[in-house]
Amino acid sequence: MKKANRERLIDQAARLLTSASAVVCLTGAGVSAESGVPTFRDAQTGLWSQFEAEELASPQGFERDPGLVWRWYMWRLTVVEAATPNPGHAALARLASLCEEFVLVTQNVDNLHEQAGSADILHLHGSLLHFRCQVCAQPHRLTDAERRRQLPPTCARCGEFVRPDVVWFGEGLPWQAVEAAFVAASSCDLMLVVGASGLVYPAAQLPLIAKQAGATILDINLQPGPLSSIVDLFLQGKSGEILPALAQSVAWLIQG
Ligand code: APR
Repeated sequence: MKKANRERLIDQAARLLTSASAVVCLTGAGVSAESGVPTFRDAQTGLWSQFEAEELASPQGFERDPGLVWRWYMWRLTVVEAATPNPGHAALARLASLCEEFVLVTQNVDNLHEQAGSADILHLHGSLLHFRCQVCAQPHRLTDAERRRQLPPTCARCGEFVRPDVVWFGEGLPWQAVEAAFVAASSCDLMLVVGASGLVYPAAQLPLIAKQAGATILDINLQPGPLSSIVDLFLQGKSGEILPALAQSVAWLIQG
């Protein structure tokens, strides 16, 4: 995108944001890409490339080889813990403070939005940093020793294996978060989609619901995707560059 064109589109997006009373923002893997957090499939490199995604992230895979799944998640946890929020995460926290009502919904399992200062985030796919019993769902606080083990720890309440509190292939999503996201989407007047491919359901349905309810759809992505036909304003580029400029424009408009 040429600089002048980009500035014009950012100004247009900022005006739409300042005139909206209820904003929902949906973020996907793209927002964390500049922090060095690989997407699920990108993370399947080196040692992990020999395994199918379902072997590493499904209830059947965990049943078959709990140690393998545990070691994969301990490795991913290390990668996520080493990452820090990028300017895109920080700008979203700033935008939330500038908008009348701002709901942040994410498909990401990292905690970079939280680290950047965003609050009340709806995590549709769970969190890599939380653990629970695979049977009774009792939350589990991970110790350093457990991280290094070849097998998952066991639940203090029922003795079954502990698993990461993320959504695996073939599993339902956390219904409270999904329900809250759908309610917010159907009643917002602007939806901002950032770094989400629009391929992963049911998250990809949120912009469709918002659009049907009359909301304006803004999209920030490196490239156009399946959502393009319903997007009102597309800002092409890195979210870590566009979002800070957008938040700054909104701040200037508010200050008059
Ligand atoms: N800025 C903006 N967009 C970006 C950037 C960037 N710096 N880098 C990548 N993107 C865009 C890509 O063009 C793509 O459209 O981010 C999107 C990432 O797409 P996916 O990897 O499919 O991520 P997402 O939509 O979040 O779906 C993946 O599936 O495996 C599950 O739980 C996992 O949440 C994850 C989901």
